Amino acid sequence: MLLITGGSGFVGQNLAGYFGPRRQTVATYLTHAPVDTASAQSVRLDVRDAEAVFSVFERVLPEVVIHAAGNKNLVFCEEHPDEAHRINALGTRNVARACREFGASMIYLSTDLVFGCVEGGYREDDVPRPALAYGRSKLEGERLALEELNDLAVCRSGGIFGRDSPLLKWLSAEVEAGRSVECFVDVFNTPTYVENLAEMMDAVIRKRLVGVYHTVGRERVSRFEFFRSYADTFGLDASLLSPVSSAGLKEKLLLQPDASLSAERTAERLGVAFNSVAEGFVRLKASGGV
Ligand SMILES: NC(=O)c1ccc[n+]([C@@H]2O[C@H](COP(=O)([O-])OP(=O)(O)OC[C@H]3O[C@@H](n4cnc5c(N)ncnc54)[C@H](OP(=O)(O)O)[C@@H]3O)[C@@H](O)[C@H]2O)c1
Repeated sequence: MLLITGGSGFVGQNLAGYFGPRRQTVATYLTHAPVDTASAQSVRLDVRDAEAVFSVFERVLPEVVIHAAGNKNLVFCEEHPDEAHRINALGTRNVARACREFGASMIYLSTDLVFGCVEGGYREDDVPRPALAYGRSKLEGERLALEELNDLAVCRSGGIFGRDSPLLKWLSAEVEAGRSVECFVDVFNTPTYVENLAEMMDAVIRKRLVGVYHTVGRERVSRFEFFRSYADTFGLDASLLSPVSSAGLKEKLLLQPDASLSAERTAERLGVAFNSVAEGFVRLKASGGV
């Protein structure tokens, strides 16, 4: 049995959609409607509640757990660092403890923002120095889970896009309404197509890998390049995308100049093709779009 925490979120729903037909899957939710499908059932879970975590494990008896529940709202985490710590760090420890108790393997979905995000191109063994409360809470989650488990797999990802992607839905609505969208030319990451992330996690599970992996797309792009690639693939009016500098807005918008990850080592270990941005968009279009 596979347990996916955060199964009602954007990433978790997509992971449940990928794994559901392949293995018996239970996905958790906290505040949003259950996501029962033919292939994945759902159960309510608050990871801050250690007893509730144990009781879900008692019912589900998972062999593998993908821990994708968390709060990734940068502003919320910056303004409420204690609550971010409770959800992203202590919640992760609760899940790791239950994995230890019930003998389940754990894959923790972490983030590129564990790094300082200035130079970019961070490798799996670079020392993380997060600049934001969100990144600190996720990094603490990695550390606390590692204290509990010696067979933990950490999958750091970033800029995840795919079906029901909030960012792409917003972009589509703006462009379709004929509104111009300012896109930063100096904010970079390595965007990750969510199905491709699922394939990478699948490889981690099948090969029983442990340690830290950079499960991202294979291409470092600016926000402007990312949006333009989307517009090109989906036939949107790219002239509405206006390239701008983020100068003067970085602090206000908590922008991270370069969150790109190097994933060469991970790609070698996983043996999965890592998609470029355009490849991800082509796959997304073929699967029915956002
Ligand atoms: N999106 C990205 O680009 C990205 C990149 C790297 C890493 N990640 C990581 O991926 C995870 C999911 O991201 P997402 O984009 O899918 O976010 P999301 O759409 O906001 O989903 C968050 C999920 O976590 C659940 N959740 C929140 N607080 C919880 C709690 N206390 N106990 C149990 N479940 C809780 C939510 O449940 P309800 O909605 O039902 O309340 C939802 O299922 C996060 O941990 C994030 O750090 C995301």
